[in-house]
Amino acid sequence: MCGIVGYIGPDQAAPFLLEGMSKLEYRGYDSAGIAVFDGSQINIDKSVGRLNILAKKVEMKPLTGNLGIGHTRWATHGRPSDANSHPHTDCTGKFVVVHNGIIENYMHIKEKLIAKGHIFTSETDTEVVAHLLEEYYEGDFEATVKKVLETIEGSYALVFMCQDEPDKLICTKQDNPLVIGLGEGENFIASDIPAIISRTRRTYILSDGEMAIVTKDSVWVTNRQGVPVTKKVFEVNWDAEAAEKGGYEHFMIKEIYEQPKAVRETMTGRVAKDNSGVAFEELKWIKEDVTSLKKIAIVACGTAYHAGIVGKYLIENLARIPVEVDVASEFRYRSPLIDDQTLTIVISQSGETLDTLAALKEAKKLGSRVLAITNVVGSSIAREADQVIYTWAGPEIAVASTKAYTTQLIVMAMLAIYMGSLKGKLPQARVLELCQELRELPNHIHELLEDVEPIKTFAQQYGFNEDVFFLGRSLDYAVALEGALKLKEISYIHAEAYAAGELKHGTLALIIEGVPVIALATQKDVYEKMLSNIKEVKARDAVVIGIGLKGDNQIEKYVDHTIYIPATDKFLTPILSVIPLQLLAYYAAATRGCDVDKPRNLAKSVTVE
Ligand code: F6R
Repeated sequence: MCGIVGYIGPDQAAPFLLEGMSKLEYRGYDSAGIAVFDGSQINIDKSVGRLNILAKKVEMKPLTGNLGIGHTRWATHGRPSDANSHPHTDCTGKFVVVHNGIIENYMHIKEKLIAKGHIFTSETDTEVVAHLLEEYYEGDFEATVKKVLETIEGSYALVFMCQDEPDKLICTKQDNPLVIGLGEGENFIASDIPAIISRTRRTYILSDGEMAIVTKDSVWVTNRQGVPVTKKVFEVNWDAEAAEKGGYEHFMIKEIYEQPKAVRETMTGRVAKDNSGVAFEELKWIKEDVTSLKKIAIVACGTAYHAGIVGKYLIENLARIPVEVDVASEFRYRSPLIDDQTLTIVISQSGETLDTLAALKEAKKLGSRVLAITNVVGSSIAREADQVIYTWAGPEIAVASTKAYTTQLIVMAMLAIYMGSLKGKLPQARVLELCQELRELPNHIHELLEDVEPIKTFAQQYGFNEDVFFLGRSLDYAVALEGALKLKEISYIHAEAYAAGELKHGTLALIIEGVPVIALATQKDVYEKMLSNIKEVKARDAVVIGIGLKGDNQIEKYVDHTIYIPATDKFLTPILSVIPLQLLAYYAAATRGCDVDKPRNLAKSVTVE
């Protein structure tokens, strides 16, 4: 996720670009840059770090001109650095481009362009777009952009500038948002409405495959084939604060709804298009990298630790390698038995959690290879680890982790398949089956998010109880842990997660009339046992909300309410069963009037021990 803006009109472009980018920092904030046409050439200023660093540079040495584009970055390809910051240019500086998304076939294009003599100055996927413009240009900016769009594959929102045609900006989108703000004698382009709301409320929302030529007096929209599209003006009636949250009340719910996209992006380029396997360009392991492992140690904190527990089930089952999972603050102090035949996997959304970082260093000291799974390119954990797999969830602003968790689960699933295949433990037919199911997950999550009313009603009904229990077996237990954490951290309701078979060893004493119990029953091999546990708590008059698979017509006979999730491979169900639990926590907290995005006593990134 990145934020992009564009301006054309009678005013100076730079002040609008910087202000607009400040409203898009929630989309990325590791570097920023702008390009402005000064009447004879395009000048660029960019800088790694938060936007205020760039703003100060521009204040000292203003970029003047009435046409410009800007970008606030959340790194995916290439660490945060001045060189990797957008805008990017071709060899001549004639073309300038800003991009939000991932150009999947950039490596292939880059190799070809280098062979033709193009000089690249960044590690980004985006730079190929600027060089392609240069390569194809025969004097017609619009025709060149069309040709470039025929060459690139992936997801993108793009805005292009050409020094030879400084009376226009061209923009287009595929799977990433782009809005055009309609002014009087001026027009605006942005990734999202907050960037333009101070200047206009009249907008065109571009659809996938549409391309717009934006001058100061007109906006001309066509589809990919060049056929004109008549756009309807969308009048924005949200206030500026709501606009930043995309019309949602809180970042947390916005991020819950971003999960189909986050999960899809994290699989991009990793799950083969024909579902024949999983590849990690960033690892390039050979068989021996996996067969030489005696064990894997997974280390993380909080929600990331819960993703690690799911990872243990998946790796042990699909790759048959023993896995231990530890919370980072315990791992460091228990003299862990790891060595050079251990792979340590650290999981951290922020990449800055101090306990996880310290555990990583401890593992390295003991001779272990370290693989990091993180959402922040260039973070401390990414830098310290031997290898990194990034979750491409985009920035997570709400303190309670949602999309980072589901993307961590996706990485764990892909990694387990990757290791299982390399080791020869997974038959190809099974790989195919799992990859097909992986690809369906974004649609399944989308389906779950379309019908939230029953969950909202439960939250309103039970949101004032002081205790809630979460039960599950096997992978459902791992998800129960995450459901309980989510509920307690944002709604302040006391929540406990139990492996359902453990109930009778103590906790059953707390189950009394009216206590809400969330019972997950998505795992076929322990299903009957789970039903027995549900009967145990029903016999003590608990109110049971069951989470079951679509097509299961048993569960509703034993529970008070049922939430159904789409059926998928048993190893992938956590990615779906956690969604209702996130929603339940969110609506319970909202019902109780809690500060959902900033729960008391908690910080997004824990950089102290
Ligand atoms: C809970 C939550 C925390 C984090 C934990 C680790 O919703 O967000 O439990 O998961 O603080 O943070 P990272 O993943 O940044 O290391």
